[in-house]
Formats: sequence, structure tokens, C-alpha cells
Amino acid sequence: MKQQMLKYFGEVFGDTEGVEVFFAPGRVNLIGEHTDYNGGHVFPCALTIGTYGAVRKRTDRKLRFYSVNIDKRGVVESSLDDLVPSEEAGWTNYPKGVIWAFDGLGMKLDCGMDLVIYGNIPSGSGLSSSASLEVLVGAILRDLYGFDVKNQMLAKFGQYSEQHYNGVNCGIMDQFAIAMGRKNQAIFLNTDTLEYEYAPLELGDAKIVIANTNKRRGLTDSKYNERRGECEAAVAKLMTVTDISHLCELDEEQFEKYKSVIDDPVLLRRARHAVSENQRTLRAVAALKEGRLEDFGKLMNESHISLRDDYEVTGVELDTLVEAAWKADGVIGSRMTGAGFGGCTVSIVKSEAVDSFIENVGKEYSKKTGLTADFYVVEVGGGPQKL
Ligand code: GLA
Repeated sequence: MKQQMLKYFGEVFGDTEGVEVFFAPGRVNLIGEHTDYNGGHVFPCALTIGTYGAVRKRTDRKLRFYSVNIDKRGVVESSLDDLVPSEEAGWTNYPKGVIWAFDGLGMKLDCGMDLVIYGNIPSGSGLSSSASLEVLVGAILRDLYGFDVKNQMLAKFGQYSEQHYNGVNCGIMDQFAIAMGRKNQAIFLNTDTLEYEYAPLELGDAKIVIANTNKRRGLTDSKYNERRGECEAAVAKLMTVTDISHLCELDEEQFEKYKSVIDDPVLLRRARHAVSENQRTLRAVAALKEGRLEDFGKLMNESHISLRDDYEVTGVELDTLVEAAWKADGVIGSRMTGAGFGGCTVSIVKSEAVDSFIENVGKEYSKKTGLTADFYVVEVGGGPQKL
């Protein structure tokens, strides 16, 4: 891939002298969805697919960006003196946002750069192509300009730029999973304290299969921010009767005790999802550690039901894929992953059943929705690196 990236760079910017190549992964979340902005737990892992960047410093203050994936946009030019989000900047708002976040913390770039990006994460799929790009750019800035920044901080800067430069009020899960990824391990993260632990993904003779609905996720950002607002409104109600600052501080029993104070039925369901999903995540990680993979799978299924009925972030495409997966042979568990409203599902499938799973789930999905799903049997990879 390094050679390929150098080739792309040469084609766009003329020569490849002094060019360096970096990589940051995508991520899939196994369980713990929409808990990361509610002070709860998540259990994602980094993937071996991700985003590559070939980069070289310039001697002036220009920033020149090119994406192989969006090549019709050509080279997008900007400068270190223009770190302001704009519609015309399109995808380059992501790298610019990270440069802006570093700049705001006093890590100022003394010169610009030429950067060529190529990603093999399907975009808009819920596998965090944007967080991958953010962490990639953070890793590039650290290396090229010599900033002393730990991987965990790369995650924080990525999140900060996504929230304040790109307007999505996201949690820390995606950037953390990417910046802290480790081969064959999932990350059990408490998003309130940022305490984390690696858990080996011992799936025996089973594989992780991702299915992409290929449904365009139109309103994702505004719906995402809306859900976050609903959780905040539910917390405000609960705060009148108990001393909490996040929904996930409550377990199910405590929630039952206090829930009558939430008089809006929609808010009540949103809050119930956050509380129950956090508890499911704790139970799922315990099950995995004890080798109870079947129980882990059941909790994945329950997670989907809660996201469908209480949190209402699934939709017909994700539900069709998951329900077809539940009926297929050799499936240990299946659920939507990421923000929802389209994007991908994640399933744990016995190795010998993977081919029939792809065939049967794919057929049923096309029959019911008229769309074609893509399937990926994925491997769990490490964090950002220089190639
Ligand atoms: C998106 C956000 C994450 C997280 C998930 C839902 O991926 O970026 O912070 O909230 O949705 O679990």
C-alpha cells in the first residue's frame, strides 16, 4: 500500500521525494451503542481497513489536499491562515479541523503540507471513515511537525474537531477505538472516566461479518444531535430526584425507581435505552471473558431491539438485515453498529456458515428492500502507524 500511496502522490503533486505514508484504521462497535455521550461503556475494535495518507511538508503556508476516493473534486487548496469551516471545503474540513484543534492548543504548524488521502472504509457506512481521517491527520501532524502527543490525545483532538469544526456532537468512542486500536483485541472503555482495558476477541471458530445496507444516511448528523439532546433532557428531569450527571450512572433497578419523573414517553424510551445498553455492555464483556460467546451474541441481539424500539435509530434497511441474520444458520449474534439510520450491521457468524450467511441474508435483503448489501469478513487491527 505504501508504494501505491507514493504513486498516487507522484501523480497528483509531481514527485515523491521526502513523502511519508501513514495509516489509521476504521472501527466497528460490538456493543454499547449511543452510550458514549451518556457516560457509559462501549466495546469497539479497530479494523484492518482504514485511511492512508501520503504527505510532505511545504515551505510556504499552503495546504493542498487530494482524495483518491473523491477525485472529481481534484486538489482542494487552502492555507494555514484559513482554518475556518466552510461548505466549499467539503471533505477537507476534516483535516483542516484537526489542524485547527492543534493550533488552538498552541501546536502551530510552521509550514503547510501536500496530502493525498485514500480510504478503503466504505464512506457513510458507520465504520468511522471520518474519525479514521481525523486520527490519521493527528498522527501525521505529530510525526511531521514533532509534537509530543499521546495516542489518547489524538482521539480527543479528533473528537474536538468533529464537534467544534464539523458540527457533530459525537462521543469519544470512534476516535478512541481508532487511536488506541490493538490487533485482535477489542477495547472495553468507560467513556466517563476514559479508563479502558483490552479484551482478547476469542471468537473460536467464528468470524466478524459486517453487512453494509448501502442506504445513504441522509439526516444522520441532525438526528444524532437530536438524540443527544433527548438524553440531556431526560438527565435534567432525573436530576430533580437523584444526584446524577449522566444516564449511565443508573442501573436498571435505579432507573425503575426514578423513571416516573420523566413525563414524556419518548424521552423515557431514549433514557431506558442508554441505561439498559450500558448494563448489557457490562454483561457482554463479562460473558466474553468467561468464554460464553452465545450469551454475548444474545446481548448483541437485545442491543439491536433496544436501538430499534426505544432509541429508534434503525430503520427498515438495518432491521431487515438483522432480522435476516437472526434467522440464518450459524449466527451467534447480530445488531446494527455505529450511529444508525443506515450504515452497517455487525454479526458474529460461525466460520463454516459465513458463505451461506452472505448468500441468504443478501438475497432476503434485496427481496425486501430492492437494495444490494455488501458484506465484509473483517479482521481486528492495530492503531495509527507510519508505514
Ligand atoms: C457515532 C458517534 C459515536 C457514538 C456512535 C453511537 O459513531 O461518532 O461517538 O455515539 O455514533 O454509539
